[in-house]
Amino acid sequence: MSAAHCFSSDTTSRWQVSLGRQNLQGNNSNEVSTTVARIILHPNYDSVTNNNDIALLRLSSPVNFTDYIRPVCLAASDSVFSNGTDSWVTGWGAVKEGVSLPFPETLQEVELSVLGNSQCDCLNGVGTVTDNMICAGVLAGGKDSCQGDSGGPMVNQQGSVWVQSGIVSFGFGCARPNLPGVYSRVSICQSWINSHISSDKPGFVQFTSSGLDADSSYTCPGPPPSTTTSSTTRPSTTQILTSPARAVCGNAPMNSRALGDSGVVPGGTWPWMVSLHKNGVYTCGGTLIAERFVLTSAQCVSTSNPDVSEWSVFFGQHLVDGSEEFEMSLGVVNITVSNMTDSNIALLQLTKPVSFKDHIQPVCMDVSASRTFPVGSRCWVAGWENGSKSFSTDKAGSGLRDLETQVASCGDLSDSENICTYTMDLQQGDQGSPLLCKSDSSWFQVAVVTMSGSKSVRADVQVFAKTSRFGSLLKETVGDMPSPEVAATGNAAGFSISLFLYFVVPVTSVFLLSGS
Ligand code: ARG
Repeated sequence: MSAAHCFSSDTTSRWQVSLGRQNLQGNNSNEVSTTVARIILHPNYDSVTNNNDIALLRLSSPVNFTDYIRPVCLAASDSVFSNGTDSWVTGWGAVKEGVSLPFPETLQEVELSVLGNSQCDCLNGVGTVTDNMICAGVLAGGKDSCQGDSGGPMVNQQGSVWVQSGIVSFGFGCARPNLPGVYSRVSICQSWINSHISSDKPGFVQFTSSGLDADSSYTCPGPPPSTTTSSTTRPSTTQILTSPARAVCGNAPMNSRALGDSGVVPGGTWPWMVSLHKNGVYTCGGTLIAERFVLTSAQCVSTSNPDVSEWSVFFGQHLVDGSEEFEMSLGVVNITVSNMTDSNIALLQLTKPVSFKDHIQPVCMDVSASRTFPVGSRCWVAGWENGSKSFSTDKAGSGLRDLETQVASCGDLSDSENICTYTMDLQQGDQGSPLLCKSDSSWFQVAVVTMSGSKSVRADVQVFAKTSRFGSLLKETVGDMPSPEVAATGNAAGFSISLFLYFVVPVTSVFLLSGS
């Protein structure tokens, strides 16, 4: 299977297919080559729009399967690849726009997330992405397929099998921010593929994605609000648009963490991270959850009667030449500790409210336990692994770093009480730090890192107590909390802005014309 755009006609004579190959140059001991008996292009392939960019090549003779040559499964027609589905693309194409793969041209791989069709269409230009396509990429840019990768596969793992969901087709430039790559959607072609293969048909597998697909409710953002509307029209706009003045949580405007990113993070990446100092010494990580409250692990404040005057909270981490710098610090007026049997949290009330900016933001708390973070979701722990080192006078301190992980099954333990992830290399300094996972487009703190003697499910899995266990304590102590941006509300607001502008602009111009 390949892309139709790779073939200018169905003439087979000059084509050869190599299998089991790793490098395009030099020896490949596992390689087998064969000629092509027939090239079948999709009858509805459109070279202008790239719609139905798929081709089948019938090999002149059957190939023997080996450890290096095996067929991939194909996504069956009822497959679902929701937003965020983890995908891999492989190929020998360019490694950057205009930069071809260097000698000996070893096969490359990249990990991407599926992006919903509506969002992908908005980003690439309305009308470019049809239902016969599927998109993948990272919005921050930096990872993509590129020229020469065409015809190659995008695959997704389900259990132990790899299922091909896409064929590299097109994209604007390569790896540019907000321009995800576009792939032919294999699942749409199940019956067309089967109609051309009579015996030894491919293995079609129904791929399923858990979780809500954020894309189903996605509509393109309207045009940006105009700054030229006349002042007389302003009051009515403000009235419509500013009514829900509630603070938003889980927004990280400067975060460009992508799949596979782990390590020292640039300042502003995790804007709710705070560091907690007891008598001037770094003790724990914590998170800003409301304008007056910080969440950490109960183990950080240990004593039953903590002395608030010993504590200070640092906000707005910056990283300057490997040394730490914080925008500001505040004192603590009250410390509340939960009293559950195993894991516990502590809530620190600040001396005054913090004002939110791009690099100081609250994280969302799932107080009503209404969110699910399905197995396979990508999550991060951010923390100061070695507090004593990074906060000493030794300026080579390691700074805030993060660790990426994936939600794992909790086995027999309750999924509503616990969240389990693949093991991360957590250090003492990570105590009180958050486990952060995205739901819709907001970041939620699903758990607090606690170093207590942990329960275990399997050697490679870590168990955390879900913060939603403390929902009632959070509600009582903190009160009204910032809420996540609701996709539907956001769209409705965007929709009214655009309607409003379409209406106002002509009226304004009539006014200007008659006035001149
Ligand atoms: N059309 C290209 C090819 O022939 C593939 C481009 C993919 N581009 C992208 N940005 N994903 O190889």
